[in-house]
Amino acid sequence: LYCSIPAFTVVNDLSSSSTSVKSLAMNPLLIPEAYIIGAQPLCSQLVGLSQGQKKLCQLYQDHMQYIGEGAKTGIRECQYQFRHRRWNCSTVDNSSLCHWRALSSLWLNAAGVVNAVSRACREGELSSCGCSRAARPKDLPRDWLWGGCGDNLNYGYRFSKEFVDAREREKSYPKGSYESARLMMNLHNNEAGRRTVSDLAHVSCKCHGVSGSCSLKTCWLQLADFRKVGDALKEKYDSAAAMKLNTRGKLVQMHSKFNAPTSHDLVYIESSPDYCLKNQSTGSLGTVGRLCNKTSEGMDGCELMCCGRGYDQYKAQIVERCHCKFHWCCYVKCKRCTKIVDQFVCK
Ligand SMILES: *[C@@H]1O[C@H](CO)[C@@H](O)[C@H](O)[C@H]1NC(C)=O
Ligand SMILES: *[C@@H]1O[C@H](CO)[C@@H](O)[C@H](O)[C@H]1NC(C)=O
Ligand SMILES: *[C@@H]1O[C@H](CO)[C@@H](O)[C@H](O)[C@H]1NC(C)=O
Ligand SMILES: *[C@@H]1O[C@H](CO)[C@@H](O)[C@H](O)[C@H]1NC(C)=O
Repeated sequence: LYCSIPAFTVVNDLSSSSTSVKSLAMNPLLIPEAYIIGAQPLCSQLVGLSQGQKKLCQLYQDHMQYIGEGAKTGIRECQYQFRHRRWNCSTVDNSSLCHWRALSSLWLNAAGVVNAVSRACREGELSSCGCSRAARPKDLPRDWLWGGCGDNLNYGYRFSKEFVDAREREKSYPKGSYESARLMMNLHNNEAGRRTVSDLAHVSCKCHGVSGSCSLKTCWLQLADFRKVGDALKEKYDSAAAMKLNTRGKLVQMHSKFNAPTSHDLVYIESSPDYCLKNQSTGSLGTVGRLCNKTSEGMDGCELMCCGRGYDQYKAQIVERCHCKFHWCCYVKCKRCTKIVDQFVCK
């Protein structure tokens, strides 16, 4: 199986569960000295860049940190969105990327890169872009000012397209082959990821004027919180359209009775494995040992999560904050209580 990684592998960092910003310093991408030394060391240290991405890396060295952050935000969001699923996005490596369920998480990377680069522009971190220069929305009330420093969605979108898609665009496969279908699927889903970020961007305003009178407002373009992007993409994922190649080598919908997917929707070309058992070749970790919910009938319920193998019940001790009291002024003090709960674990 041939499998692709959209942006690149962030060396040594995907397995760390630490979310603190400090931990990012372990990543060669985020060591500022690497930029001073010059293009070669930084770009050659990144595992998994395609030829085209290496060139872009050299041209846009100051962007690389944000691409790394964006990709990581995407992976973290994937792990959050899929935490109650059999496949929980925890194996982002070569093999797990072989299947569409896994592959489809990569649109979250494309989206994460738009997000990170657009913000970096606004914050003045990049030499080739600045605040958004998006046109004033037509429906903005006439006396409100337009042009606070907004997230540069336009630039972030274009850069993500250039960089994340480079890997796919530099490949070529025989017309009609499975690989060509997957390439088209990846490009389609990357675009859907970017468009979802773009669709959720909104106008944000700030009041000015004498003591909160709000007689004057300044407004700018603002990206949505990335959690919203994740929520929206998860929904699209659950209603993704099945596709196949037609005789002219184009990707078309398998079931023509449904509305054709747009560039905002996710698509897939093969069913995922069921992820019930560990399988090296599909990158499935299996669900043995996963926590499940005895009373839920959803994917997190023991029946579905454990694939009918049954579960073991344990008593587990958990520590909680409890008896919280508000103290004048201004803090909350809690006790720590231990509680015994039932936990259910897949056999
Ligand atoms: C992915 O595959 C490449 C080439 O086969 C290999 O060099 C690399 O170590 C693999 N990475 C992981 C995380 O398994
Ligand atoms: C692993 O998955 C592959 C592809 O779906 C399948 O052919 C193979 O039988 C599976 N292996 C095991 C041990 O289940
Ligand atoms: C995801 O599932 C694997 C086993 O299938 C488990 O080892 C891992 O802890 C899970 N990750 C999270 C974040 O729940
Ligand atoms: C288990 O699922 C039920 C029904 O969906 C839900 O009400 C409950 O909060 C869940 N329990 C846990 C521990 O998540």
